[in-house]
Amino acid sequence: MERLDKVLANSGYGSRKDVKKIIKGGKVEIDGKVVKDSNYQLDPIKSAIKVSGEEIIYKKYIYLMMNKPDGVISATFDDYDKTVIDILEDNHKVFEPFPVGRLDKDTVGLLLLTNDGELNHRLISPKWHVDKIYYAKINSNIDKDDVEEFKDGIILDDGYKCMPAKLEILEAGENESKVKVTIQEGKYHQVKRMFESLGKKVIYLKRLSFGGLDLDKNLGEGEYRELTASELERLRGLCKIC
Ligand code: URA
Repeated sequence: MERLDKVLANSGYGSRKDVKKIIKGGKVEIDGKVVKDSNYQLDPIKSAIKVSGEEIIYKKYIYLMMNKPDGVISATFDDYDKTVIDILEDNHKVFEPFPVGRLDKDTVGLLLLTNDGELNHRLISPKWHVDKIYYAKINSNIDKDDVEEFKDGIILDDGYKCMPAKLEILEAGENESKVKVTIQEGKYHQVKRMFESLGKKVIYLKRLSFGGLDLDKNLGEGEYRELTASELERLRGLCKIC
């Protein structure tokens, strides 16, 4: 069961405050009866809901792809810093989405946001081996030995042995190298700590892909869009039952 004001807000009728006004104004009918109580509980799938005589198409979940900018926190709330939620428009905020996993404040690139807790849980579980691909710049040379270390499983500073990961060298240089890293876990600062274990430092990090979904090249930093039906199907397909 859902509250009437939430159902309408999620259906694009404005903020909770806006929809409370609409409801009080007697414009909402549920199964043929006018309802003026915003707290009214209903099953939005089974009930016929009309606003000013127009039937609404209810959507419970939202799925967004963002190109996260530098300097923004992957959290729903922060006392000091701007969060990825602050970037969203009100008609998306009403769904109360949260980030799927985290990117560091200075990491940019693909971040998924949703209010679908079940899918989120599955996508971040290492059990499903969901690939996350990063582009990174490293402050020193990278060679075949590093590639082997990644393949064997890097041991982090706290003794944790990472799952085997793929390191591809795009460009190697004494003072800067460019690489692509594919991991299936999401430990705190994982990519940075993997390189630290090899005595190297990540100086730029961008997530390019998550579960086979590539960052939309048309999204500038700080821009986002809803996932298409086929992108969502693809994510659902990664973790069979959801
Ligand atoms: N690994 C990191 O170190 N940072 C991120 O933001 C993501 C992966």
